[in-house]
Amino acid sequence: MSQPPEHVRRNEAFWDEQAHEYAPYGERAWAREEPVWGVWNLPESQLGLLPESLAGQDAIELGCGTAYVSAWLKRGGARRVVGVDITPAQLESARRLNAKYGLGLELVEANAEATGLPGASFDLAISEYGASIWCDPYKWIPEAARLLRPNGELVFLRNSTLSMLCMPDTGKVQERLQRPQLGLHRVDWPDEPETEFHLGHGELIRLLRKSGFEVLDMIEIFAPADAVNHPFYGEYMTVEWAQKWPSEEMWRARKR
Ligand SMILES: C[S@@+](CC[C@H](N)C(=O)[O-])C[C@H]1O[C@@H](n2cnc3c(N)ncnc32)[C@H](O)[C@@H]1O
Repeated sequence: MSQPPEHVRRNEAFWDEQAHEYAPYGERAWAREEPVWGVWNLPESQLGLLPESLAGQDAIELGCGTAYVSAWLKRGGARRVVGVDITPAQLESARRLNAKYGLGLELVEANAEATGLPGASFDLAISEYGASIWCDPYKWIPEAARLLRPNGELVFLRNSTLSMLCMPDTGKVQERLQRPQLGLHRVDWPDEPETEFHLGHGELIRLLRKSGFEVLDMIEIFAPADAVNHPFYGEYMTVEWAQKWPSEEMWRARKR
């Protein structure tokens, strides 16, 4: 088998380091009854990001980490849920929690840009800060299209483009533009051994359409009035900023 690309190996090493510290966060999320989304923990009943019914659906989570989103899908009625992640230490947490809750998720160690799983096997592909920011969109979005059946849905959550444009190389989000949008794609944070990917809206819409999707929705997420800073991401995003501008975006697209 060929070696994964350099950014995939970098990100795996980064998540291998983070996995132990991240596990309690995953455990709390697994224990939740209702899905909550993003930095501000907004409930599914408010955002309505998932398909109306998951009953009988086959779902895949790309970059599942501790797989709490996969757990929510299975509890919500999905028939089969496959979680894909590149980092063994993250999958170890996912496997432990899957055994604890007895949900029967299928957890696969693979690069979400090229999973090697059979095509046209899923009705829903989802990513909550998994492939949606850690994988090259020019690879993982066509891979999600390949994995989905016709009319299947792709749902993903990522940082808003505006927040990326206002994010300096180090420190918190600013109220001024910090980087050009022209050429926005791969982002290597100078002080962090990780690589992220962020595309502007026009480019992302064109990529989705070229990959065989129709864009259904793009929900911009703001901090609610009672928001408190997130234990992990509060270091970069602030409540004050996100009460004025969208800190995150949830995209929904349907495979033609
Ligand atoms: C923020 S975490 C996971 C999100 C998940 N919702 C959670 O919080 O547990 C990001 C995950 O993306 C995974 N990841 C990064 N690059 C990947 C790739 N190329 N293929 C599959 N998974 C990847 C990492 O291993 C990590 O577990």
